[in-house]
Amino acid sequence: MSLNNVQHLHQSFSEEEQKVQQLLSAMTLSEKIGQMSQFSGNEGFISPDLAEAVKAGKVGSVLNEVDVNVVNQLQHIAVNETRLGIPLLIGRDVIHGFKTIMPIPLGQAASWSKDLVKQGAKVAAIEAKTRGINWTFAPMIDISRDPRWGRIAESFGEDPFLSSVLGVAMVQGFQGNSLKDKGSIAACAKHFAGYGASESGRDYNTANIPENELRNVYLPPFKAVADAGVATFMASFSDLNGVPASGNEWLMKQVLRKEWQYQGFVVSDWDSIRQLSVHGFTQDDKQSAYEAVNAGIDMEMVSSTYQNHIEDLIADGKLIIAQINTMVANILTVKFKLGLFENPFTNQDDLPKVLNQQHLAIAKQSALQSCVLLKNSANTLPINLNKTNSIAVIGPLANDGYEQLGTWIFDGEGKDSKNCLDAIKDVVNGDAEIHFEQALSNTRSKDTQYFTNAVATAEKSDVAILFLGEESILSGEAHCRSNIDLPGCQEQLIEAIAKTNTPIILVVMAGRPLTLTNIIDKVDSVLYAWHPGTMGGPAIADLLFGKQSPSGKLPVTFPRNVGQIPMYYAHKHTGKPASQDMYVHMDDIPQRAPQTSLGMAATHLDTHFSPLFPFGFGLSYTHFKYQNLLLSTDKLKFNQPLKVTVEVLNTGDIDADEIVQLYLRDLVGSVTRPVKELKGFERVHIKAGETKTVTFTLDTKDLAFFDRNMRFNAEPGEFLLWIGGNCEAQLMASFSLEEEH
Ligand code: NOJ
Repeated sequence: MSLNNVQHLHQSFSEEEQKVQQLLSAMTLSEKIGQMSQFSGNEGFISPDLAEAVKAGKVGSVLNEVDVNVVNQLQHIAVNETRLGIPLLIGRDVIHGFKTIMPIPLGQAASWSKDLVKQGAKVAAIEAKTRGINWTFAPMIDISRDPRWGRIAESFGEDPFLSSVLGVAMVQGFQGNSLKDKGSIAACAKHFAGYGASESGRDYNTANIPENELRNVYLPPFKAVADAGVATFMASFSDLNGVPASGNEWLMKQVLRKEWQYQGFVVSDWDSIRQLSVHGFTQDDKQSAYEAVNAGIDMEMVSSTYQNHIEDLIADGKLIIAQINTMVANILTVKFKLGLFENPFTNQDDLPKVLNQQHLAIAKQSALQSCVLLKNSANTLPINLNKTNSIAVIGPLANDGYEQLGTWIFDGEGKDSKNCLDAIKDVVNGDAEIHFEQALSNTRSKDTQYFTNAVATAEKSDVAILFLGEESILSGEAHCRSNIDLPGCQEQLIEAIAKTNTPIILVVMAGRPLTLTNIIDKVDSVLYAWHPGTMGGPAIADLLFGKQSPSGKLPVTFPRNVGQIPMYYAHKHTGKPASQDMYVHMDDIPQRAPQTSLGMAATHLDTHFSPLFPFGFGLSYTHFKYQNLLLSTDKLKFNQPLKVTVEVLNTGDIDADEIVQLYLRDLVGSVTRPVKELKGFERVHIKAGETKTVTFTLDTKDLAFFDRNMRFNAEPGEFLLWIGGNCEAQLMASFSLEEEH
């Protein structure tokens, strides 16, 4: 992973230092606390209270104000009507687009394309900037291994390596080459840390993560973006091992500042400092302010414990002014780096228009590359218009521009979307009849009254495309589910249509992996589109009719049922690993079978131990063959690079992209190692019949992990290495890392 091109963000921190110190020395304590306070905007106007607070120097940042005139007016008060004229940070959740909406981050992760993730974030930054926004709360890089958790939609999925690479790409897209550039905004790495491990996939729930697992799995994406110069971090809402993140001194000081030498600033989550007392971690707001300052949460989002208590805490001798100065300096540094002191105001004419053709083209490309083909029996896809006279388009998500956008689209609008039904009509262009039947008013509906129409529509058509899944509101923050089947009576709809014998193509739009076990055998093809964003329709239509081949790969494991969760490919081997030999289903157990007769293995009796679809999986309209896996050595020395090459052959008759994936296993470790870990990937375009050689270079640090003393080391011994198109790749080689002499 190359992080070099953003290193200058660090280098120039020192240039700002002098200006920051000068300003700090002129500030009163109240003005300093003001910089540490973020207020909520009023969405479209400035309330007298907010105007007064800004004027009094009590506000460092405002979030949720997107009217450019209002933002300019707020900046005018801050710059021209306060004693020191310090401009405001204007924050907004621009999670996967502002007006031009990209696929949800989990969908973008399925593209495995750092270029597209970067370009998508650049588009989002430019569009947000037209409204005066200079700070977004993204990327969200919480490792997410529980699809019940609604916020998995906002994440890059289950894998530390993929999340690190894509997290860095998103930061680069938002922040550009310089935060001072017209189209750049400050990014925010969130939620630090461990939020994705919320128990039972219920949002805001407790996370208990052993330190070793935290360092090996949950922290690497945060370290990667810290190294890449992300301007800010956000503390998580959750309790991590008994200490809520917003008061977690170990996390913020020991890990972030001391070990990682992080230079930006840390913001709390919404009201999360006040909530320290709700957790039962502090007894009141005053103690919450104390714990948060002491932990190093530089800015308080929305709640006002800093405003109300820091002065007293200093007077009581509990906090010292030097702590406050450091925190304020962190915030002012980012303001200087953004160039806000020189350019506090926004002139929309300086920036490209929102929703312009170029932005829409990037959104389409991102949607195209994020769709994952999970099943394609008898080559039902792509639809051949020479052989198809009529097409049934069925389902509540076929023509709903809003629901294809997904969670966290504060500013995106359904009216700007291109939906699937319209896009199919465009592509078909009169070459086949199209019969549309919505069948259900929404994805949760249990009303079967239109099923007869839907069945009749399918019956009279050569093929039926079903657009089912989850509406946007069923995933995202605080939108968790305990059952992740298709909601409502969508499974019944599939069953009813399956009786017609018309081939069924299921297009799923959803904010999470759904459990498809009940219906997977009833449909011929499944294209998993996540929530694909503004240009979802044209992208999906191109894939359905073979203008492009699907190329997305799963960034997260698809379980067969909820009882298998947590389920992720990089699990540990255990002392009694599951295997096909040992596997018995409860239906096959003889009555009164002796206790140990089944063998003893890490399996469930009522479901297979494998997932429905593994991590990294995704089909194409062509086939790829992997061969000639070669390593530069099978006896590797410390600090010697390992060069790995493989040939990938496109054996079909269409050109297509493949995502080549490299996995490693360290066979013996001083702490047990996962059965496989992704250590490299590359999206390659391979023409029909062509063979491409793909090369990866691994360093000793790619073999390293945190050991039981929390030292990051590679350990000598045997390694297995696989390359292929998903985590179950079979092409394998081995090598050893030799003892150091
Ligand atoms: C709460 C969410 O957890 C966080 O991700 C978001 O950025 C803030 N609210 C601000 O809206």
